[in-house]
Amino acid sequence: MSAFVGRGHGKLILAGEHAVVYGHPALAVAVDRGVEVRLTRIDGPTRTCADTACDDRLTEALHAALEPTGWEVSVFSDLPIGRGMGSSAAISVGLVRARAAADGETLSLQTIWERAFAAEKAFHGNPSGLDQAVACRGGLLRYRKGPPPHFDDLPCPSWPLVVLDSGAAGDTRALVEGVRERHPGNQQVLEAIGSLVGKVERAMNAPDQLGPLLTHNHTLLRHLGVSTPELDDLVQLALNHGALGAKLAGAGGGGVVLALTHDPKALEQAARARGIHAFTCHPQPGVSSAGVSP
Ligand code: PMV
Repeated sequence: MSAFVGRGHGKLILAGEHAVVYGHPALAVAVDRGVEVRLTRIDGPTRTCADTACDDRLTEALHAALEPTGWEVSVFSDLPIGRGMGSSAAISVGLVRARAAADGETLSLQTIWERAFAAEKAFHGNPSGLDQAVACRGGLLRYRKGPPPHFDDLPCPSWPLVVLDSGAAGDTRALVEGVRERHPGNQQVLEAIGSLVGKVERAMNAPDQLGPLLTHNHTLLRHLGVSTPELDDLVQLALNHGALGAKLAGAGGGGVVLALTHDPKALEQAARARGIHAFTCHPQPGVSSAGVSP
C-alpha cells in the first residue's frame, strides 16, 4: 500500500535559546539530519509501527495529532531524540506534511508552521515556535516569537559543526518552566543572551570571531541555570581540542553541545576516545537558498 511521506529538518540553536521565549530574537540552523514520517491508510485504530523512532511521549503526541482511526505511522530519524536537536518539531512538521500529502493539499510554509506549532504544544506545553520554524524552512533562520511570529531566512553558512552528545535527555518543558520561576531575577541574563544574537549574526562568516561568541552564549546559559556539569565538561573538552567556540544547544539540562572547529575529525576522535558520542553536522540549505525547497 502506498505511503504518504513528510520530512522535517533537525536543527541546532546557535544563539538565543530561552531568551526567545521572552521575545528576544534567536538564531538557529537546520542540519543535514532529520525525520521522515510515513502514513499508511489502514482499517482500524490509528497505530504506530513497532520499530518507529519515537519515545512514548512522541507516540502519544502523534496520536493526538491524527484521527483516532485509519492510520499507521512510521517515523524514521537520524536525529538523537530528546537532545535539543529538534526531533519533536521535525516529527510534527513531517506529520503535517505527510497528512497534507494524503489529502493532496499543498501547504504554504506559514500553514505548515501553524499546524506543526499546534502539534508541538503536545510535546512542550508553551514552545516559542523556533524549532518548528527551522524544521519546515531549513537554512539559517532569525526568529522572533509572536504574535505574529517573525521569520527572517538568512544566507546559510557552510562551516560544519561537531555535535557532542551528553547522553542525557533534557526536559524542555521543565527547563523553560524553571527559567520562568526564576524570572524576573534572571532578566539581565536573558537580555544579555538576546543582545548577543545580533553579534553572532554579524560574525556568521567569520568563524574566528563567531567561536568566542558561542562560548560566551554558553556561559550566559550556565548563569541562567540550564547547563549541567556534563555539558560544561563537553564545552571544555571541545575548547581543549582546538574548537573556536562551543555551547550547549537547545533547552539544556542534558542534550548536546555544538562546537565550531577548523578540524572536526580531530575533535570527533578526541570525544570518542572518551566514550562520548560525537558526529559532524552540515547546515541544510532552506528557503533562503535559490533552487532548494525545504
Ligand atoms: O526543544 P529544545 O531543547 O531545542 O529547546 C527549545 C529552545 C527553548 O528556547 C529553550 C524553548 C523554546 O520553545 O524556544
